[in-house]
Amino acid sequence: MKKTILTLQQRKENQQKITMLTAYDYTTAKLMDESGVDCLLVGDSLGMVMLGYESTVFVTMEDMIHHSKAVAKAAKTAFVITDLPFMSYHTSVYDAVYNAGRLIKEGQAQAVKLEGGQAFCEHIKMIAQASIPVVAHIGLMPQSVLALGGYKVQGKDYQNAKNIVLDALAVEQAGAAAILLECVPAKLAKFITELVNIPTIGIGAGAGCDGQVLVYQDMLSMYDGVSSKFVKSFAPVGEQMKKAFGDYCQEVKQQQYPASIHEFAMDDEIMQNLKS
Ligand code: KIV
Ligand code: NA
Repeated sequence: MKKTILTLQQRKENQQKITMLTAYDYTTAKLMDESGVDCLLVGDSLGMVMLGYESTVFVTMEDMIHHSKAVAKAAKTAFVITDLPFMSYHTSVYDAVYNAGRLIKEGQAQAVKLEGGQAFCEHIKMIAQASIPVVAHIGLMPQSVLALGGYKVQGKDYQNAKNIVLDALAVEQAGAAAILLECVPAKLAKFITELVNIPTIGIGAGAGCDGQVLVYQDMLSMYDGVSSKFVKSFAPVGEQMKKAFGDYCQEVKQQQYPASIHEFAMDDEIMQNLKS
């Protein structure tokens, strides 16, 4: 059965962990869906892991819609959330609602996610009022990399921690369906999770969250970028792929592949006629 926003809320109420992975293409999303993962996030991290951009700030609405459609087609049971990219909602509440609508109608997503707390409550409120479930991403917000000057753990000092707590309370009040907490101390994430009534999904936020998300290239060791402390490699898939690609090249060069079992047959008689 197709999971919905209610599935996530029920998981929190029943104290069952929510599982989420990023997904960007049909084939991988289908494997994840069949594995039973609750939720597929079409993250704007696709800018880096799928498109090779330096950061997520270059990702466009068209990029998001293109990948979201592919993931949605594969998600028979998983709930699909798609990121609003940088500058698709910052410019106005109107743009936020309009672009959230595009991710639903064109991207076939079931919910959207934006980065922001107190400063984006009006945007969250109006998206929710348009009957679009909206996830608020707080803590480390990668779309703010230019202003932050890099990616750092957030909420380590009192003022910063308090501000993140206020963000969480504000987005819940504004109507966010869930909170994504990125790179904050585990104690802070646990405190917020107990404080709010909506589910929290953590990445680099410890075990106290209602759910967890990882970028799949990180958990499969497929991506060469710097790996954070919070990432766990679940299988050396990157290495396995590289080896398979190398084996293929070697077999082609040494004329081991294709072998006769890989070839299509034809009647000798037809060949004779062709030659004459
Ligand atoms: O874009 C993304 O993959 C994300 C996750 C890191 C939460 O927002
Ligand atoms: Na993102």
